[in-house]
Amino acid sequence: MIPERLELVLRDGTPVVARPLTPADRAMVAEGYRRLSPEARYQRFWVREGKVIGDAMLDRLLSGKPSEHAVWTVFDPTRKDFPGMGAASFWRSEEDPAEAEFSVTVLDADQGRGVATLLLAVLWLVAYRHGIGRFTGYTMPENVKALRWMRDTGAEGEWDGYNAVFRWNLADLDKLPETPAGADLAARLAELSEVML
Ligand SMILES: CC(C)(COP(=O)(O)OP(=O)(O)OC[C@H]1O[C@@H](n2cnc3c(N)ncnc32)[C@H](O)[C@@H]1OP(=O)(O)O)[C@@H](O)C(=O)NCCC(=O)NCCS
Repeated sequence: MIPERLELVLRDGTPVVARPLTPADRAMVAEGYRRLSPEARYQRFWVREGKVIGDAMLDRLLSGKPSEHAVWTVFDPTRKDFPGMGAASFWRSEEDPAEAEFSVTVLDADQGRGVATLLLAVLWLVAYRHGIGRFTGYTMPENVKALRWMRDTGAEGEWDGYNAVFRWNLADLDKLPETPAGADLAARLAELSEVML
């Protein structure tokens, strides 16, 4: 069974909670979007202007059949101001149901703490349970952090003429690279497999 809430600890000892986002989280997601740096907003949502997420994007993000689409957040429940740290989603491909498009955003101040790797591990296992075998992620060529993180977590990249296209093979649980992010992902997958598979 896929749990509705996971209590976990980051590498630096911070206790965090991971859970799926629902339509009731509309205001929180809009606030998280507002708090992103223009750079992070552009890198994830490909939008240069404005701090307000559109209604159509919110509707698309927060609805959909669980087997076709998942969106999870990680937050620090002790943080008074804004607990959200990041969120990730996948959408299953209509043409190829064995594949899903994966994307992730972490608030700038929380980057480099293992939040994206944690979200990747959660969605990896959710997708795997629904019979999805591959994640595809799209990144701009200048997004060095994402390029590196994707490669370091085991995705294989190619250039489609506009963007870098990365693919994680979700069956390759035991073939993750020996990078810090790869080791982090392997440890998270092992930890979460106990409760999610
Ligand atoms: C790319 C992105 C998602 C990475 O998120 P993140 O939460 O910083 O990723 P992680 O912390 O899990 O991993 C990043 C690095 O920090 C390292 N790290 C993780 N925990 C750490 C810790 N406690 N101490 C030191 N380093 C740590 C990881 O090993 C990894 O290093 P590497 O990439 O050199 O191998 C984030 O930069 C982001 O949101 N960017 C804007 C949106 C975007 O580009 N999205 C991707 C396209 S969809």
